[in-house]
Amino acid sequence: MESEFVITIDGPAGSGKSTIAKKLADKIGFLYLDTGAMYRSVAYISIEYNRDPVEVASNLDFEILESKNGDKFIANGTDVTSKIRTHEIDDKVSKISSIREVRKHLVKIQRKFAKNKKIVIEGRDTGTVVFPDADLKFYLDASIEIRAKRRYNQKNEKKLTNDSFSLEKIKNKIKKRDNSDKNREWGALKKPDDAYVIDTTSLSKKEVLKEILSYLAEYEY
Ligand code: DC
Repeated sequence: MESEFVITIDGPAGSGKSTIAKKLADKIGFLYLDTGAMYRSVAYISIEYNRDPVEVASNLDFEILESKNGDKFIANGTDVTSKIRTHEIDDKVSKISSIREVRKHLVKIQRKFAKNKKIVIEGRDTGTVVFPDADLKFYLDASIEIRAKRRYNQKNEKKLTNDSFSLEKIKNKIKKRDNSDKNREWGALKKPDDAYVIDTTSLSKKEVLKEILSYLAEYEY
């Protein structure tokens, strides 16, 4: 049986956690789990098929497949990669992820996914609620300006969606989502007390990864 080693990375939208978590997992040969993509999948499926989000979360079948064009997110057998990154889902996901029963089901799936594995898991509550005893925890943050810029570039340059918004509008939407992610009753975005905090505002991806690897060097995994 493989021994478990869990690294959690939490932080607000645009802090760089998805990119860094993926790069870190690839570099050290760990599995990678983007929990935000799970909440987004529940939001997408419940809106698209007019289903109860709690029921969708209760039997969500979720996997991440690697492909040469980047990771593909598969929910209930369907490729939802581009469908979960629209502005509509950005707007609705925070409300759906504040439903206690939705969180309960997804947290259970996340724990099962990581059982006896070496994994990098990222989201909002992975170091506080999902894995309070994780081996190593990080909390990434950055200024609102740079986070909005990153999201803007991500959406417009990579053409993840067909709907485009101005930088200012994205900034306001992120502020609104931050507010509801930080203030919900269950699984709120919060820095774990025992996390290493990295401000990524003026750091490149390479520099953030280097910093994380320097902490990791002290561990056997
Ligand atoms: O990281 P992201 O932007 O893809 O996350 C989308 C939303 O999902 C975010 O606004 C809050 C929610 N989320 C959550 O509630 N808990 C997590 N562990 C991860 C994401």
